[in-house]
Amino acid sequence: MLDDLKANNRAWATRKIEADPGFFKRLEDQQAPEYLWIGCSDSRVPANEIVDLDPGELFVHRNVANLAPPQDANYLSVLQFAIDVIKVKHVMVVGHYGCGGIAAAVDGQRRGLVDHWLHPIREVCHEHRHELDAIPEQRARLDRLCELNVIRQVKNVASDVFVQDAWARGQTVCVHGWVYSLGTGLVNDLNVTVSGLEDLGKLD
Ligand code: CO
Repeated sequence: MLDDLKANNRAWATRKIEADPGFFKRLEDQQAPEYLWIGCSDSRVPANEIVDLDPGELFVHRNVANLAPPQDANYLSVLQFAIDVIKVKHVMVVGHYGCGGIAAAVDGQRRGLVDHWLHPIREVCHEHRHELDAIPEQRARLDRLCELNVIRQVKNVASDVFVQDAWARGQTVCVHGWVYSLGTGLVNDLNVTVSGLEDLGKLD
């Protein structure tokens, strides 16, 4: 079963060792990534590959529509570990244009549990309904909602007590908002970076 994947794995590990004999041995001893990536589960948005980073260089949390809900124990556990233990310097919330989760949040169809998961996106949509209603083309409207969702998640991360306590200790943590384009492979920095309490108010 899955023999092709196991063969891929062996070939990959061999290539890594050929290029750098100590590669896996070093990673076995510790991980010290500088970045936490919070992205969408979409198979077309592979975190490490997009920013061309090796194993050990990126701490990753992915879920449908790249949400950072302040009541989600999974996300909060990742965030606390990344901030308090690994001491990452940068957190990137990375959405992507053409996100199925964003479209599903607002198309009015019923899908079950995921409708609850996507509820925060409907709130973002409602808060920005005047701006969104003014965009005539559906695809462009959804792409803007992808951006607005990322900005909201950046606010969620930056206003979390783990991040605020880190700032109070003098620890450097920058929270960034990016949106990835499936069509070009390029990341669009929304320039909403929050590096301290004084930046947080600017996002409102
Ligand atoms: Co998506």
